[in-house]
Formats: sequence, C-alpha cells, structure tokens
Amino acid sequence: MNMPGATQPRRFCRSGPLHGRILVPGDKSISHRAIMLASLAVGTSTITGLLESADVTATAAAMRATGASIEQVKPGVWRIDGVGVGSLLQPAAALDMGNSGTSTRLLMGLFASHGIQTVFTGDASLSRRPMGRVIQPLALMGAQFTVNADDTLPLTMRGADPAVPIHYRLQVASAQVKSAILLAALNTAGSTIVVEPTPTRDHTERMLRGFGANLSIDIGDDGARIITMQGPQDLHPCDIEVPGDPSSAAFFVVAALLVPGSDLTIANVGMNPTRAALLDVLRAMGGSIEEEDHRVIGGEPVADLRVRHSELKGIEIDPASTAAMIDEFPILFVAAALASGRTVTQGLEELRVKESDRLAVMSAALTFAGASVEEHADGLTIEGTGGAMLRGTLPGQSIATMLDHRIAMSMAIAGLVSEAGVTVDDMRPVATSFPQFERLLGDVQCR
Ligand code: S3P
Repeated sequence: MNMPGATQPRRFCRSGPLHGRILVPGDKSISHRAIMLASLAVGTSTITGLLESADVTATAAAMRATGASIEQVKPGVWRIDGVGVGSLLQPAAALDMGNSGTSTRLLMGLFASHGIQTVFTGDASLSRRPMGRVIQPLALMGAQFTVNADDTLPLTMRGADPAVPIHYRLQVASAQVKSAILLAALNTAGSTIVVEPTPTRDHTERMLRGFGANLSIDIGDDGARIITMQGPQDLHPCDIEVPGDPSSAAFFVVAALLVPGSDLTIANVGMNPTRAALLDVLRAMGGSIEEEDHRVIGGEPVADLRVRHSELKGIEIDPASTAAMIDEFPILFVAAALASGRTVTQGLEELRVKESDRLAVMSAALTFAGASVEEHADGLTIEGTGGAMLRGTLPGQSIATMLDHRIAMSMAIAGLVSEAGVTVDDMRPVATSFPQFERLLGDVQCR
C-alpha cells in the first residue's frame, strides 16, 4: 500500500482549553496480535475494540491471504475463523505491509515455521527499515531469505518445515523481534528460548497465554527475562477486548498538559507497565495526571486518565525508561519544548530506525517551529520556553514529517501551543495508527 491520493497538508492553530472526556482507538500492538493469534486458533474468535487503521488492515489482509476468514461484524467488532497452527496456506501474491513494521516483523516470525513462501513489500518508509534483526534469528530457525544487502524490503522468505528451536539473546531491545521468535516457536517442535536483557512490551506473551499457549517466564541471574515455549502449541479461540492505545492517548495527554485551562479525561487507556513510562516522566516533569477506575480488560491493565494543564519542568530522562515509552518520544519532545529549563535524553539510537529518523526529524521540526533543540547521536537536548507559546511555522512553510504518523500528530499538538500555528505537510500517514485523530482534536479544540 502506498499513501492514497494527494498529500494532505493541515494547519493546527492555537487552541482554547481541552475539556471533556474522549476515547482513543484500540491499541495497535494488541490489535495486530489479536488478528494473528485468532487466525491461528481453530474455531471462531471475536475481537472487540479492534483498531481499524491501515497498519492493522495490512495484518488482516496477510492473514486472509494465508487462509483465515476475517470479517467485520460491526464497527470495532471482528469475527475471525482461524486455520490452525501449522496449516497456513501459501499466499497467491506478494503481501503489501504498507507502513507497518509490526505487521512485517511479526508475520515474518509467524510464517517462518510454516513451509510457505512469502514476498513482503512496503511503502517508502518501511522499505528503509532494518529487517536483519528478525532475519538473523529466523534464519537460525531454518527460514531462507532472498533479500538485498541492506536487509530491507522487498524480501522473499521460504519458511522452514520443520523449523528448529533456538536459544536466542536479543541484541536490540525490541518487542517485534521477541514476538517474531515466539510466533515462529508456535509451530516448532522443542524448546525455544528468548532472553530479553531489557524488558519490552509483553502483549505477545500475555495474549499467547490467553489463547491457551503454554510459556514460562523466568528472571535470570543478570535480571534478564527468559521466555521459554515448548512447541508445537495449539491455540484455542478466544474473545478479546482491546484497550485504548496509550501511544495514541499520549498526544492528548500532552495537549491537555500544555494548553492553559485544560482538564481532559481520556477513558479506557491501556496501562501495561511495559508501555507506561511516558506518564511517569511527565509526572516527574510536574504534570497532573490522575489514574481513575483501574480495571483489567483483555488481560491488560486499563484506567481512565484525568489530565490537567500543568507547568512542566525539564528533566534528564533515565535511559532505562526508553523501552517502555519508545513510541512516545516525539510527543515528549513537544512537551519538553514548552517546559521550563532543559530536558536531556540519551540512549535513543533506536529512534533513528522507526517510521522515520525520529531524532533528526523531530529536531528539525521543532527547530522550524521556533523551539531550541540540539541533536546528538543518541538523543536530543531541548531548552524549553517555560510555557511561552512556540513561534509556529512561517506562512508558506510546512513541517516535513517524512511519512511518519507520530511526527505528524506530535507537530499538530505543537500547533495548539504556537503563536502562528503549525502547518504539517501531510496528515495521510496518521491513518496508519489513529484515523480519528483530527476529528477528536476538532471535538476538544478551539472553543
Ligand atoms: C511494537 C514494538 C516497538 C514499537 C512499535 C510496536 C510492537 O517496536 O516501536 O510501534 O507492537 O511490538 P520495536 O520492537 O522495533 O522496538
């Protein structure tokens, strides 16, 4: 999938207070996994609150192409009839992953232990992203790859039948790599072990258990998480409710903290501790964020967030928080640009290989909007305005978002706290994770 239609530039203007109660759409990571696991279970699973976005559609299309039946019952509710672990069919055509790194890497894992050949393609942004991190462990399990020297898409994979189990220590803190190996392990006889020195989001482990898979999680002497799965494993159908995506909520959390007079409740937000570090960082910066009505939905902790305008102070962010807020740095940088004093981040090399080089692109974007930013090899140092509005972009100029949805949404929020407004060059990529973003912003904005 390439971006449909003409570019969609938008100008985001200085906003009045954000009030009321909003719901953000379903969690993207959980939605991908729910489709994949339901497609492997024999029988019918129902998923409620599924994120209906382009990235998730790419996963659904790939699972249909390999045999699953996936139908929308009504908005947000999907019925999936799976084919069974070991029974995936050879897709008739190349699988277009669009912008979605999660679809690509997790599906490579899932298909690596099935004797099928798959061709993965993607858009310009995805075709620049490194796939070597999954190719390496999956090749050890026996999958064969035809790929260019950079290990980027397009690539062809021939799954291993039978695959061999591996004992693998992650070289990068990546939930996608961990998940790819665990999904491959489902159809691999023997004991597959993934060692994770830095914990990353654990939705795959939680959901595998929800679908009846047996896996053990231990902590090693060095503090690493050791995940062991004895394959092959059958999955049982399961009804899943997907909580709201904390990475989507993050834009509104920061908007409410920054816009004077705001008092906004964001309901039904996933609070999985492997995803929640942004809230701790914003609280440490002085942000007023209260968690209300803690509950568990679909095996995941959830709460409502009440966020009030706050005067933020710059801080030095502990690199140990990185994995648990990896997708939230672009919007955190916006918060830092309005805080008083200096915010220092480091250990963020991984941001350079996301949908865009998020350190370079956010540094340029915020500078362009009038913020004071210094870029380093592994982070940004930002000198905040102390609450004063950013200048905004000049007439006729726009922020280059490089096909990155989170840059577009972050800079839209920067526009709400700018004198002149901020023009974002293209809002189309937002459809990959948060199609309702502009409508929701309209609901709470500029009264
Ligand atoms: C994801 C893992 C993270 C994250 C991505 C979603 C997942 O990627 O950035 O948006 O669903 O497993 P990495 O595994 O590359 O850190």
